Amino acid sequence: MDNARKGVELDLGAEASTDTWDAHWRRIGAWSIGLAAARGLTLQMADDPLLAVLDAPKCGEFLQDLGVLSIPVEPANSNREREIFELARALEHHFAFEPFRNSGDESDPFAQAALQSLQCATRAELDRAIASLPVFPAAGQRALQLLISENWSIPDLEFIAASDPVLASDLIRVCNSCLFCRREPVTTLGHAIAYLGSERASAVLIAASVKRLFTTPQLREIWNHSIEASEIARNLAAISGRANAEEAFLGGLVHDIGRLATALLPAKYQSTSARLLREGCELSLVERALCGSTHAELGATALQRWNFPRNLIEAVRFHHRPEACESSLAAVLYLTERCTNPAEDIPSAARSKAAIERLGFDRTITLEIKSEAGILDSLRL
Ligand SMILES: [Fe+2]
Ligand SMILES: [Fe+2]
Repeated sequence: MDNARKGVELDLGAEASTDTWDAHWRRIGAWSIGLAAARGLTLQMADDPLLAVLDAPKCGEFLQDLGVLSIPVEPANSNREREIFELARALEHHFAFEPFRNSGDESDPFAQAALQSLQCATRAELDRAIASLPVFPAAGQRALQLLISENWSIPDLEFIAASDPVLASDLIRVCNSCLFCRREPVTTLGHAIAYLGSERASAVLIAASVKRLFTTPQLREIWNHSIEASEIARNLAAISGRANAEEAFLGGLVHDIGRLATALLPAKYQSTSARLLREGCELSLVERALCGSTHAELGATALQRWNFPRNLIEAVRFHHRPEACESSLAAVLYLTERCTNPAEDIPSAARSKAAIERLGFDRTITLEIKSEAGILDSLRL
């Protein structure tokens, strides 16, 4: 295939994997304000312990960014505010040490109290969100089953693609977007499948099916991120030789599918999470604090419902916590996230190290990822 190629640099060095002091204090400020709001208080910073701790040149900037007024605090409020600040610090500590903790360990009671205060989506609401997810298109489902079965032929795939005209036209469009050097466009499914190859054609059919689930402008942004992630993940897997490249491609496409479920949670969750994200907390932390699960876990549950292969489900479940499993695919997806959307989680040296070692990479190198321009670009929303 004679495609134009573009390079993406993936920095696996220690610098790229380390949280910053600024980000740490910014999160503490944001958690403090979130905790105060959950208790019906408006946090005001003058004479507040947070102000004392933020006694640094950056302090004014933090407060300005967080939209906090710097006016005197009523003496009666100061103890309550000091308590809120301690809860915020405990929460930050809880998240920072997560990669080092065994799952059974009890965390700090202060952190537990903070989590309880912030929680604004119940288990029942999460279950309802999962149950309300759209049905995965039947043709995509059949393409997936074909891809994971050992015994199938190109006419089988052509038959599946022909059963859904929208998917069929997407497949032909993707194929033509790859044909930079040909004058005659491909017009039949048979030619498109022959040109792309049966595995890639199945993956494109699955991609076109997944695309249909991303309907709102906010979700479309996630879909476009997923397209980028699919190419990076495929390349990372291929370079490492320790994960299946086509599986990694599919993994990249569906790794954030759990965000379809969090988008269905009640308005209170949406407004609180939007505020915490705006104020500098990372997505996975906000999700854990507000609903006790992340889009990674919710995504794994959704993929289970849609009968995706078990190793893909496991990789998606642990794509923000690769140290908690042994999957090479989870390590690929973790590094893919760090490269394509680092704002989804705190950079963690421990996690990056675990992922890098599992894939056999050298921690000091920068990989130049070559991605084939145009494979899924025409499926962007
Ligand atoms: Fe993610
Ligand atoms: Fe992501």
